[in-house]
Amino acid sequence: MIKFPKNFLWGAATSSYQVEGNNKNADWWQWEKRTGKIQSGNACRHYELYEEDFDIARNLSHNAHRISIEWSRIEPKEGKFSHKELQHYLDVILALRRRNLEPVVTLHHFTNPAWFSKKGGWANLRSTKYFLRYSEFIVKALSKHVHYWITINEPTIYISHAYIFGVWPPQEKSLIKAAQVEENLAFAHAQAYRLIHKIYKKFKLLAPAVSIAQNVMAFVPFANSPKNRVAAYLRDKAYNLGFIERVMHHNILRRKPLDFIGINYYSRQMVSVKDFGIGSMAMDVCYDKHHRVAKNSLGWDIYPQGLLDILLELKTYDLPVMITENGICTANDNQRWKYIYDHLKYIHCAMEEGVVVIGYLYWSLLDNFEWDKGFKPRFGLVDINYKTYKRRVRTSAKKFAKVCKTGILAR
Ligand code: FCB
Repeated sequence: MIKFPKNFLWGAATSSYQVEGNNKNADWWQWEKRTGKIQSGNACRHYELYEEDFDIARNLSHNAHRISIEWSRIEPKEGKFSHKELQHYLDVILALRRRNLEPVVTLHHFTNPAWFSKKGGWANLRSTKYFLRYSEFIVKALSKHVHYWITINEPTIYISHAYIFGVWPPQEKSLIKAAQVEENLAFAHAQAYRLIHKIYKKFKLLAPAVSIAQNVMAFVPFANSPKNRVAAYLRDKAYNLGFIERVMHHNILRRKPLDFIGINYYSRQMVSVKDFGIGSMAMDVCYDKHHRVAKNSLGWDIYPQGLLDILLELKTYDLPVMITENGICTANDNQRWKYIYDHLKYIHCAMEEGVVVIGYLYWSLLDNFEWDKGFKPRFGLVDINYKTYKRRVRTSAKKFAKVCKTGILAR
């Protein structure tokens, strides 16, 4: 029998911009208006409907829920903080608590206030200062009700999409800026880590648990050739662990600036490179069709066993791990349940091998605005009708609910 520990956190994740709607002061919003390609509009109207959504989560036996705070609501103009929006998030967190849903709160999930981006965003040397001022405002107000904090969501994805591939705002393609942004984000995390702990100490609260949410991916060498193996190894070290390592360098008095490791896992990359050149080593991907695996509706390979390898690798950090995101977009809800089942099975294997996993948050509770891909990908445990905003609980959600309720994984 596959049984998870009693105090395991079970739930789902969302992010403010993807579900709330009308985040008009965010850089993403302005980018959408400027480029005219996609519009997040009302998203899921979660800003108004959060109580209804949390009722669904509670009825699905979740005991935890990950949200993010929208910085651009809290600080719509530089230095002007909105107490009304702060109250909103306090209400949101209390609504979670009332339903016995442990909040996991993210401070930065891809979007920035438009004013911050105008000043150069995360490439600006003062970015950390701005982020800390916002973090202090939030953490002081919410600390009494929150134990788990994620400072920054998927720094590696943010850097690559916004500063290397140029597909997200500010659409830069500059390795120099990307390096600067990486350093600023790592520093911002380390400083925020310290700040959050300081606030809890000052308020005489139980020490919080603070981390990042690191996107990890399985890099699988195609045909096991030496050059593919070297490339897969290097990508794993750089992409999966690079930011964690960088953050670790900001330790003080040998104290790690992470209390646990939050990871987001979705897929694998099959690695097949032309040669040992830097370009090939870093970028070549295998589009060979020999190794067929199931895919999600965005074409990402589904590879649950990769999560086991990564969890085992994370053992070196000697920290608990929380799965802060794992999920599938698909029109086939049976495939969604299989995806959840298979990943949970491998998580359990890792736990039997001594990895301390403290929770699993499915991405996402709701279908939502999937960034540059718009509303098409359906990741939700709950289907959203974007005309009526009606919520419909999927069968996979009900199957997952049984696991959440009993801690037992059964088909
Ligand atoms: C992750 C993001 C999340 C969502 C999922 C599908 O990279 O953190 O916002 O877009 O992918």
